[in-house]
Amino acid sequence: MMIFVVVVVSGLAWLLGISMRTMMVNALKSLHKPDAAMSRAALVTSAAKPVGALEPATTAKNESRSRSASEKPTSRPVRIIVAMTGATGAILGIRILEILRDMGVETHLIVSRWAAETLKYEGNYSIKDVKNLATFCYAHNDAGALPSSGSFQTDGMIVVPCSMRTLSAIRTGFADDLICRAADVTIKERRKLVLVARETPLSPIHLGNMLALAQMQNVVIFPPVPAFYTRPKSLSDIVDQSVGRMIDMLGLESDHFPRWNGMDQSKA
Ligand SMILES: Cc1cc2nc3c(=O)[nH]c(=O)nc-3n(C[C@H](O)[C@H](O)[C@H](O)COP(=O)(O)O)c2cc1C
Repeated sequence: MMIFVVVVVSGLAWLLGISMRTMMVNALKSLHKPDAAMSRAALVTSAAKPVGALEPATTAKNESRSRSASEKPTSRPVRIIVAMTGATGAILGIRILEILRDMGVETHLIVSRWAAETLKYEGNYSIKDVKNLATFCYAHNDAGALPSSGSFQTDGMIVVPCSMRTLSAIRTGFADDLICRAADVTIKERRKLVLVARETPLSPIHLGNMLALAQMQNVVIFPPVPAFYTRPKSLSDIVDQSVGRMIDMLGLESDHFPRWNGMDQSKA
């Protein structure tokens, strides 16, 4: 009798164990079930409040112009990471943020510590003004922010202006801050990376780093060198022409600067 009771009780315990295990497995499976609507919602939610981000400052305008014709339509807007580092030329970063905002592009801004310092010398923009031009901003040392993961999809990244320090770190994959990590991710994910490298004159070290990066298919070295054939009348003409070409390099199209229209016969 005793043996019978023991056998029945252990049988019940065994059955209970199986059904509990099945319930737990099913519960875990349902947690990881791919659900397109959920994933999209999760992406939007996490993008809406990234770690260390400011509130979105601007409303996207003119959305129809933000995606280039060759791109497949997706449910998210065109998304570009903009990083500003401590080379002179903060106005280039500021102007690109303004133009991308007007094009309806979602911008993710990272400003290095030395970019914030040089900004103080170069004009009347405060760091707050600059951050307000971007859709989202991150602290330069926030390695857990969205742009540090390849699974956060973007349409490319531009470092503008790009110091020789950041350029060398990107070249070697020394991803010790969010800018270098995001650039590293952009390279490994084979997305477009535009480096607006600013220094003069250039040493063999600078040139070696630029050559190594330029040999990667998805990296463009874009020194902000003015074009004079457009007869610029002001600094802002020079900046706009340069920034317009940078936007071209990202595979987007803007029409706020004059393009070469062929030879003018009256000058021949
Ligand atoms: C006013 C000012 C202008 C600078 N201009 C340049 C420059 O044009 N190119 C450059 O590579 N570094 C320049 N630097 C030096 C960089 O700011 C410095 O190397 C810094 O460590 C770069 O750090 P980051 O790449 O993290 O921003 C400048 C520094 C100051 C204060």
